[in-house]
Amino acid sequence: MTANFYIVSLGPGHPELITIQALRILAQSDVILVQNRSESNEWKGSVAHKILTGIIDKCSEWFEDCKFGSVKKIEARLKAVYTPMNYSPQAYSHLIDEIVKACTEHKSVAYVTLGDAALFSSAYYLFDILKEKYQKIADKTEVIAGISSISYASALVKKPLCLGDTKLEVIPMHSDELKSTKVYMRLHKGDDLRDFEADDLYYFENLGFENEIYNKGKPGIIKNYLTVLIDFAKSKLPRFYKKKD
Ligand SMILES: C[S@@+](CC[C@H](N)C(=O)[O-])C[C@H]1O[C@@H](n2cnc3c(N)ncnc32)[C@H](O)[C@@H]1O
Repeated sequence: MTANFYIVSLGPGHPELITIQALRILAQSDVILVQNRSESNEWKGSVAHKILTGIIDKCSEWFEDCKFGSVKKIEARLKAVYTPMNYSPQAYSHLIDEIVKACTEHKSVAYVTLGDAALFSSAYYLFDILKEKYQKIADKTEVIAGISSISYASALVKKPLCLGDTKLEVIPMHSDELKSTKVYMRLHKGDDLRDFEADDLYYFENLGFENEIYNKGKPGIIKNYLTVLIDFAKSKLPRFYKKKD
C-alpha cells in the first residue's frame, strides 16, 4: 500500500496565512518532510521549518481542540530532510528516497513548500520524478494550494497585482529564454473560444464550489463568469540545472 502524499503550501510565513485545509492535512499526516540545510537532524537554514514553528505555536493556541486533531502534535512528526540548495540530481534523489520510504512506512505523508506551490516550487521537480518512476505515489499525490508571497505583498501595500488595463508578469531573475504561462481572467458569458489557440490549455469553472469543473482543452463558449483559463508553459529546462552565480 502506498500512502496519500500531500504537497502542502505553507503560505509566506505569517501563521494566519496558512489555509485551514493545509493545517488539517498537517494535523492528520503521520510524517511531514521538511527541507533542511544540515546533514544532522538539527534544524539549520530551513525557512519552511521557521514558518512551521510559527504556525504550530500560534495555531495550537487558537485551535488546540479542533476537530481534525492536535496542532501541537505536528511538531513531533516533522522530519528534516537534508537538501543542499544546488539543484543537483543528488539533492533530488535523496528527497525522493525519503518520500518513497515515508510513503511505504506510513498512511499519510506531507511535504511542505513555501508560499503557494504554483509559483517556483521545487515540489514540482519531485512530482515529475514521481510520475516517471513511482507512478503509484504520483497517483496518490494531492497539491494543497496556499497564499503566495506576492498575494500577501500586494495586500500589505494595498496595491493590486493587476487591475483594469494592467496584467501580471512573474519573472525569475537570472534566467533567459523564458516561456510564459498565460492566465486568462475576466471572461464574458457567451465568449466564443472554440478556435482559441493555446499549447497546454485548461479551463476551470466555479472553482471551490460544489459545481466546480476543470478540463484540458478548448473551453468552447463561455457559460459562466467564474471561469479562468490557464495555458501552462512547457519548460525546456533540463530537470536539473545549475543556478547562475
Ligand atoms: C522558490 S520561490 C518560491 C515562491 C513561493 N512558492 C511563493 O508562492 O511565494 C522563492 C522566492 O519567493 C519569494 N518569497 C517567498 N516567500 C517570501 C517571503 N515570505 N517574503 C518575501 N519573499 C518571499 C522570494 O522572491 C524568494 O526568492
